[in-house]
Amino acid sequence: MTRDGDGVMSVGGCDVRDLADQFQTPLFVLDEVDFLERASAFKRQYQRVFYAGKAFASVKVFKWVSELGLGVDVCTGGELAVVMRANVSPSEVIMHGNNKSLREIREALGYRVGLLVIDSFEELARAQFVSEELGITQSVLIRVTPGVEAHTHEYIATAHEDQKFGFALAGGVALEAVKRAHLLPNLNLVGLHVHIGSQIFDASGFAEAARRLANFAAELHRDQNIDLEMLNLGGGMGISYLPEDDPLSIEEMAAKLQEIVHEVFAEQRLPNPVIAVEPGRAIVGPAMITVYEVGTVKQVVLDDGQSRSYVSVDGGMSDNIRTALYGAEYTVELASRKSSAPLVLSRVVGKHCETGDIVVKDAMLPSDLAPGDLLAVAATGAYCRSMASNYNYLPRPAVVGVNDGKAQVILRRESIDDLLSLEPN
Ligand code: LLP
Repeated sequence: MTRDGDGVMSVGGCDVRDLADQFQTPLFVLDEVDFLERASAFKRQYQRVFYAGKAFASVKVFKWVSELGLGVDVCTGGELAVVMRANVSPSEVIMHGNNKSLREIREALGYRVGLLVIDSFEELARAQFVSEELGITQSVLIRVTPGVEAHTHEYIATAHEDQKFGFALAGGVALEAVKRAHLLPNLNLVGLHVHIGSQIFDASGFAEAARRLANFAAELHRDQNIDLEMLNLGGGMGISYLPEDDPLSIEEMAAKLQEIVHEVFAEQRLPNPVIAVEPGRAIVGPAMITVYEVGTVKQVVLDDGQSRSYVSVDGGMSDNIRTALYGAEYTVELASRKSSAPLVLSRVVGKHCETGDIVVKDAMLPSDLAPGDLLAVAATGAYCRSMASNYNYLPRPAVVGVNDGKAQVILRRESIDDLLSLEPN
């Protein structure tokens, strides 16, 4: 991102005012170089990297990651359809989900996805049934919940025991799942999977989960004579949304996790497993901004005599639910011009019929903001477009990729006709 002498923001060499004119607002703008660099950074550090499509899915983006040698993690038949449309090799696809339907399993195995992650005892039976039906042997991982508390929002922590995902290490549940998977004739148990949560800054949770998973694998070798080839450590690395956020370095984290796993395996004289990860947010999150146009501005006097400026933009909780859902915080800037007006306490709100329709709860923005100004909210690449809705019949915004002064549509803007096309004639 750069600014010219008039304070106008450009991303990937494209002036945000031109992008707004050409593609309308709200608009997601993806800096392609930034995205590719982040994807490559993971690829350099780990043997297997599956880009987590839930963070942001599109045919183009799946093609890019696949050209860089990453695989793709999908968790529904819908994401699977996108990955197949992108011509990603099925062997590079890993399929997740705590409640995959029989139909989804049939589709995934029909395409011959490389790995199916088993999340429940029911699914073990379903995966065996479908594999037998297709006459194949399906490679699977067992998803383990290692009882690690991740320091993140309760709704996106996934490794403590009291939640819906996976088989608990505690009480021998994961052991039982491994033993059964090992015995099922049409399943090839390749390894274990863990994902402790998302937007995590504290390395200790990842380290502890890796240690517990490696110890479990070592135990399986020692006590059960079951040898595993892969440990998949999931995603979850936090990114910087605010200036004070301090994300973990991809390189340091990779070195630490590999050291932990290799140490445990070396003690058992076991060959090192393939270590896989599934980053979503850390690849696409920082690479995108959302551009909104200001529609109204009003001042409110607060109880303490201070005032707050309510800046309404032309999107809101339908293109970014994260603020309402997790209390997420974002950085926002005036993008279309320079202002020397004093900064005032502001709240960037959307156009939906709800008070909770907040994009940025507290921001300092110039007091002379006016209708027609463009605002840019940073780091909206992950879980914004992918969690977008049509609340109040707002069409979902376009995503454009920018690179070297050129813009291309990654996903076009939805139209009202798209929405009306759902109505029966
Ligand atoms: N692997 C698995 C099995 C996952 O469930 C997830 C995310 C990932 C990988 C990728 O995690 P990441 O690297 O993106 O943190 N909607 C929430 C985040 C939900 C994450 C769901 N699973 C948010 O907006 O913060």
